Amino acid sequence: MEKKNIDWANLGFGYIMTDQRYVSNYRHGAWDDGCLTTDATVTMSECAGVLQYAQTCFEGLKAYTTEKGQIVIFRPDLNGQRMEDSARRLEMPVFPKERFVDAVIQTVRANAAYVPPFGTGATLYIRPYMFGSSAVIGVKPAEEYQFRVFTTPVGPYFKGGAKPLTICVSDFDRAAPHGTGHIKAGLNYAMSLHAIVTAHENGFDENMYLDAATRTKVEETGGANFIFVTKDNKVVTPKSDSILPSITRRSLIYVAKEYLGLEVEEREVYLDEVKDFAECGLCGTAAVISPVGKVVDHDKEYVFASGMEKMGPITQKLYDTLTGIQMGHLEAPEGWIQVVE
Ligand code: PLP
Ligand code: COI
Repeated sequence: MEKKNIDWANLGFGYIMTDQRYVSNYRHGAWDDGCLTTDATVTMSECAGVLQYAQTCFEGLKAYTTEKGQIVIFRPDLNGQRMEDSARRLEMPVFPKERFVDAVIQTVRANAAYVPPFGTGATLYIRPYMFGSSAVIGVKPAEEYQFRVFTTPVGPYFKGGAKPLTICVSDFDRAAPHGTGHIKAGLNYAMSLHAIVTAHENGFDENMYLDAATRTKVEETGGANFIFVTKDNKVVTPKSDSILPSITRRSLIYVAKEYLGLEVEEREVYLDEVKDFAECGLCGTAAVISPVGKVVDHDKEYVFASGMEKMGPITQKLYDTLTGIQMGHLEAPEGWIQVVE
């Protein structure tokens, strides 16, 4: 298979239309068989549930080319499970996780020419999503839904690649206690747009959101969880019911303990303690692990010991081990790597 003529090494995190996408429709209480299509557009009622009341959720995962030239995806079963959880919380019909994994594999296989070659630093980002497509005008769930998967080749999420980021403590809240912060609902991202535009206008790369109830604890950013490293090399990651259960973070906890022999604490992290950490990173599918150099909390600034030039040493080890597993130079734990072809 011949790869597309794309400048892989200089890709940003943007949308490039690829050849095929997967579509399945839910009507009369059941999902149809689903199929691949070349049609990249969606036609639906002007009164669709997604357009009126934002009834939509999504997932994000990546396909990688390994050193040996295989195309693989990372832990797609966990994305399938999380999408089931999102659907239930949004009163949407569940698209079963086994079918989710199959749809992802079919879509990646059909777009194999867009999976960036090994060593380019780029990957194929996979975006499964689901939305209410039938008309609703009273506030209630739609009766019809569409599940789709498209792919797009991507480079680093943050411009500047591995250069440490400067983030600010946001004055806006991302998620309420007992709200929807723990699921991947489109509405969580719609309401974060004003906060991220404001952060960018003020010269920051991202927001650090605090817990909405007390505004004393670190939650996450708009698109990634936090990991911190203490001065004695302990990995600390915030625990909260209102953050997204990141698959990257859960994988890093395992990698830190089992591959690197590090101590890991999943616990509440107070904003007051941030100044005491040696390293900080943002972790997620899109972010991979992006180092944070500085946190600005209004008139206070905390620069981590790892500085503004490079990733801290423990963050680097976590990054190298995780990407080594994803790219196939390190042996993966059972079930983490799904070979597409
Ligand atoms: N937190 C938020 C708000 C996200 O959107 C994402 C991205 O999916 C993550 C964390 C990271 O999750 P994962 O590692 O499963 O991609
Ligand atoms: C991902 O990492 O897959 C996400 O969905 C984050 C998004 C903000 C790009």
